[in-house]
This record gives sequence, structure tokens and C-alpha cells, in this order.
Amino acid sequence: MTDTLTITDNRTGKSYEVPVTDGTVRAMDLRQIKVNESDFGLMSYDPAYKNTASCRSAITYIDGDKGILRYRGYPIEQLAEQSTYLEVAYLLLKGELPKRAELDAWQYEITTHTYLHEFFKTSMEGYRYDAHPMGRLVAFLGTLSTFYTDSKEIHDPIIREQNIVRIIAKMPTIAAWAYRHSLGRPYVYPDNDLSYSGNFLSMLFKIAEPSYQPNPVLERALDVLFILHADHEQNCSTAAARSVGSSQADPYVSLAAASAALYGPLHGGANEQVLRMLDRIGSKAAVPDFIKRVKNREAKLMGFGHRVYKNYDPRARVIKKLADQVFEVTGPNPRLDIALELERIALEDEFFVQRKLYPNVDFYSGLIYEAMGFPVEMFPVLFAIPRASGWLAQWSEMLDDKEQKIARPRQIYTGSGHRDYVPSYERG
Ligand code: SDX
Repeated sequence: MTDTLTITDNRTGKSYEVPVTDGTVRAMDLRQIKVNESDFGLMSYDPAYKNTASCRSAITYIDGDKGILRYRGYPIEQLAEQSTYLEVAYLLLKGELPKRAELDAWQYEITTHTYLHEFFKTSMEGYRYDAHPMGRLVAFLGTLSTFYTDSKEIHDPIIREQNIVRIIAKMPTIAAWAYRHSLGRPYVYPDNDLSYSGNFLSMLFKIAEPSYQPNPVLERALDVLFILHADHEQNCSTAAARSVGSSQADPYVSLAAASAALYGPLHGGANEQVLRMLDRIGSKAAVPDFIKRVKNREAKLMGFGHRVYKNYDPRARVIKKLADQVFEVTGPNPRLDIALELERIALEDEFFVQRKLYPNVDFYSGLIYEAMGFPVEMFPVLFAIPRASGWLAQWSEMLDDKEQKIARPRQIYTGSGHRDYVPSYERG
């Protein structure tokens, strides 16, 4: 037995041996399979890349059937329980948990880069109060690219690290200022005495108190949510970051592209859509009728289903537990009963069981965000903030991968054959 595939081309009777490596065959090994010398050779066809590995990565491991998620080998449940978001960001980017001195230095670097150039206040005034904060985040990341022009030196390790720190540090400030602008409230500057999540809460919710003291339960809950959302291997937005970054674009515009992908309701925008769905359902009694509409394909059960997880998303399990702790502080969220009833019915109903549709990371997170006082428009932004460290780790890994080049997929052409131009006056 050998780690090879024998392919017989029945069009020519020829056989080919292609190596099997890490459970894959190289698509380029198919190109030798031709019907004649002028034949371009076989390609693989895989819409939405449902069965295509685009890279080798050592960052995040997911076993969708078993519901396993690990960052650099560490189970997500242990990191959520014992780590902090900044420590996890370090782990994703550097590959190892930091020693105490390394963590202190890392936290100092992030804490001292949270300020935005004052220009951003003027820029923020250019938006309507109700401009979606995700649209602003995409724009501001692109604008940061025009400020830190050295970020184009993507192969300079010191410059790359500087801009990675700047992005992780400034995402919460951009998000908080967009929120404050939507309320017509003055901007709150970063408070370096607070933790990453505590400072974010201060920039969001501080009013007239001399210094904001975050509720420790909510501060910890937000940090755990940031840990859970930090990375998730080759999801849609990470693939966007890698693809745009493969053209050697700078990290700011690569993450602007990733944020744009995350904004979509099928991806990071799902947490916002879950709350809107629960509001449309309105009560526990109305759940059976809504489930009927989902089964008739008149509606999607937002926050359910996943391309990889065909089991319960391990992050949803952690978030569901976290919800109880948050609601102890904020008071119960009336929509929780509707969500629990949706889950109860869906986990028993053949339509969902057969399609292996389980709650994903977005199903319960919005309930916590809403209980903490965030408007639904901020929910995808709360996903983008922590995911920045995952995007940056993946982007950096791509740049250092000798096998990677500029991403340029092929196609199956289905358009017209050759035809000559017809002047407009002859087109009838
Ligand atoms: C995230 O990739 C990642 O890792 C993403 C993410 C991350 O951390 O980066 O985990 C974050 O994006 C989580 C997903 C959030 N999105 C939603 O909750 C939106 C609702 N979910 C679906 O749109 C859907 O489940 C997807 C997009 C998440 C996955 O879609 P797939 O893998 O392309 O599956 P599919 O659309 O081919 O569905 C397979 C079947 C279909 O039934 P049939 O038409 O074949 O009979 O399941 C059905 C779908 O209709 N289905 C659903 C459903 N999800 C799939 N039916 C109702 N409600 C749903 N939510």
C-alpha cells in the first residue's frame, strides 16, 4: 500500500499516480491528465471551496464532527476558563503562551497604542449618526492604511509587528467612537489603567464619573467572548484577509477586506440577525410557526448551522453558560426563553437533525451583548474586534509561507464563443 492515488482517465485509457499528502491531493497534479498535447489539463472545480484546502496552517484546529476547537493546540474551553484575550492574541500570533515578562511587555505595547489620530474625530463627524458601525470600521481600517504608510513594508518584521500591535490596540477605540458618535456623546479617550476589555467598556459607557469602573463580571464576560471569537481557521473573512494580503497589500486594507466579509449576515453579521429574528418571532408561543417557515425555506434559523461544525459549536456551549452569569448582573433577557425554545425544538426536529444544524457561536452571543447594553448594530463589530488578532496571525503566516503566491483561482468559462463587434446602428 502506498500514499498515492491511481487515476485512470477513461477518455484515453492512461493511468496516473498522484501522491496523497496530509489527506489531500495537489490540484496541480491533475494538470498532467490530458486528452492530447494541446489540452490544458484537468483542474478541480469546487464552488465556495467546500472541499479545498487553500493553505497549511498551524494556528487553529477544528474537528467539526466532534465539536473540537483548539488555538495552537490549547482547547478553547480551557482558554475561555483560564486565559485573557490579550494572552490569546499573543498565542495566536506567536505560537506559544507568553511568559510573565513577555505578557507584561505585550500588554504594555497594546495599552500604549490605543489612541487614534485626532483626524478620526473629524472623519467620524462625516457620518450620519445612524451609519452602521461596520461600514465605518471597514472605512477606518482603510484610512489607517493612509496614516501608517510604512505598513506596506510587510516583510520587515519590526514594522509588521508595530502595525499588528496598532490594529489590535485601535479596533476598540474605533468601535467605541463610532458608538459614541451615534448617540451624540463626546468621545472617551483610552484609560491605560484599565484592562483591554475594561478600557473598551469605559470608552463606550463612561459618562461623567471621574474614572469608569467596569463591572468585573461584565468585563470578564466580554474578555471571554473576545477569546471565543479570536480565530476560526479558514472562514470566509480569514480567507478574504489571506487573499487580499497575498497581493502584498498592507495589513490595514487586508483587514478592511476581512471586516467587509465578516459584515455579511451569513458570517459575522449573523449575531445581529439572530436578535432581529427573535424580535420578529416575538414570543415562545410563536416559535412552532417560525420553525414551520424555516422548514418551508421561507426563513433561515439564524445562529444555527455551520460549514464545518456538524455538532454543537463548542463556543456556543461556553457562551450559553456565560449568559447565565451576565443575566445575574443585568437581569434576564426576555428573548432568552424564545432562543431556548427554538433550540429545544430544533435539536429534536428531523429537518435540523438530518442536516446537522446546531447552534453556532452567533446564536447566544447577541443575547449577552444586548443585555450588556450594546445596540444590535454593534454586534458584528464586537466580533471583528477580537477576530483582528486571528486575521493578523493568519495573514502573517501566509506571508511567511514559501508555498504561497498571489491568490488567483481559475474558472470554467460558460460564456459566448468568439463573435465580431457589431456597431450600435446595426444592432436593430
Ligand atoms: C460564523 O466559517 C466559520 O468558521 C464562520 C464562523 C467563524 O468563527 O468565523 O464560525 C462564524 O459565520 C458562524 C455562522 C453564522 N451564520 C449563521 O448563523 C447564518 C445561518 N446559517 C446558515 O446560513 C448556514 O448554516 C451557514 C452559512 C453557516 C453554513 O452554510 P453551508 O455550510 O453552506 O450549508 P448549506 O447552506 O449548504 O446548508 C445545508 C442545508 C441546506 O438544506 P437543503 O437546501 O440542502 O435542504 O442546511 C440548510 C440549507 O437550507 N440550512 C439551514 C440553515 N443552515 C443551513 N436551514 C435553515 N436555517 C439555517 N440556519
